[in-house]
Amino acid sequence: MMQTFLRDVHDGLSADPKTLPSRYFYDKKGDALFVEIMALDEYYLTSAELEIFSKKTAALAEALGVSKDKPFELAELGAGDGKKTKHLLRYLCDDGYDFAYVPIDISQNALDGLACSLSAEMPSLRIKPLQGDYFDVLTQLKTSDAPKVVLFLGSNIGNMPDARASRFARELSKTLTEGDRFLLGVDLIKDASVVLPAYDDGEGVTKAFNLNLLERINRELGGNFDITLFEHVVTYTKAEGIVRSYLRSKVDQTVTIAENGESYDFKAGESIHTEISRKYDDKLIGEIFADTPFSLKQKLTDANGYFADYIFVKG
Ligand code: AVJ
Repeated sequence: MMQTFLRDVHDGLSADPKTLPSRYFYDKKGDALFVEIMALDEYYLTSAELEIFSKKTAALAEALGVSKDKPFELAELGAGDGKKTKHLLRYLCDDGYDFAYVPIDISQNALDGLACSLSAEMPSLRIKPLQGDYFDVLTQLKTSDAPKVVLFLGSNIGNMPDARASRFARELSKTLTEGDRFLLGVDLIKDASVVLPAYDDGEGVTKAFNLNLLERINRELGGNFDITLFEHVVTYTKAEGIVRSYLRSKVDQTVTIAENGESYDFKAGESIHTEISRKYDDKLIGEIFADTPFSLKQKLTDANGYFADYIFVKG
C-alpha cells in the first residue's frame, strides 16, 4: 500500500503539470474532514440528496422495480454513515419488502459503525456488510441469483473523468443480471455562485481537506511540505461543469520525500491538481451511459434541482 502511495506521489509530483490522486484524501484525518464538509451549509450536495431520500422515498422505492414476492439484495458502494439510505431502508422494511442490505466499503471501521447503528434502529433489517474493493466484492455478490439493486450516492462518481465513469458503469454491469438496477446520485450543473462555495467554504474545512494530502505525505512518506506555503485554489465554469481543486505554491521552493530520497521543485504560482468534481446534466449522463448495457428508467431531483438520482436498469 505504502509502495503504491509512494509511487503515485512520485509520478504525480514529477509530472508537468503536477497532480496527486484524490483517492489519497481519505486517511483517518481526511475521513473526519469529509464528515465535516458534509455538514457545511455551503456543501449543498448532502442535504439535496437527503431531501430526495426523505421526501421522495415512495417514488424512489417504486423506481427500484422490486417486487414484494421475491427476495432481493440492495447493495451500496461506499456506504458511509447511511444517513440517506436509512430513509429508503425504513420505507422498504415497513412496506413489507423481503431484502438484505449489503453495504460495501473499503473501510471495515465504517462498516462496523453502520451495521451497529442500523441494527439498533431497524432490528428486523438483514444486513450483510462486505469489506473490500467495489468490484471484487460485487463479483462475489454475483454468485447469488437474487435480483439486485446497486446504490452509488453522493456524486462519488464525480471524481472520475467521463471516460472512466463510462468504464466503471460497464464493469459494474458485468456483476449484474438483466433486470437488475443501478441508482446513481449525481450533482447537477448549476451556477458558479452555488458550486464554488461548496468547494471553498468560509470555515476553511475544504482547504484543510485538500492540504491534508500534503500532510499525509509528510506523515507517511517523510515529506517536508510546509503547508503554509500552499494555497487552496478551486475553479469552475458552468459551461464546462467541472470543479477543479489545486494546491498552489506561494513561493519558489523544493520539497523532499525521505522515503525515496527524491526532491521536487515548485515555482511560485505552480499548482498541484488534486481533484475533479464533475457536475452533470441529462445530456452528459446519456453520453456516459450510451456505451453501457444500462438504460435510464427514472430521474428524481430535489426541489431546487441541485441534485439528481438517476435509476437505470440493466438490459
Ligand atoms: C466525495 C467526491 C463527492 O467531489 O464533492 C468534497 C469530495 N472534495 N469537497 C466531491 C469533496 C471536496 C466529494 N465527493
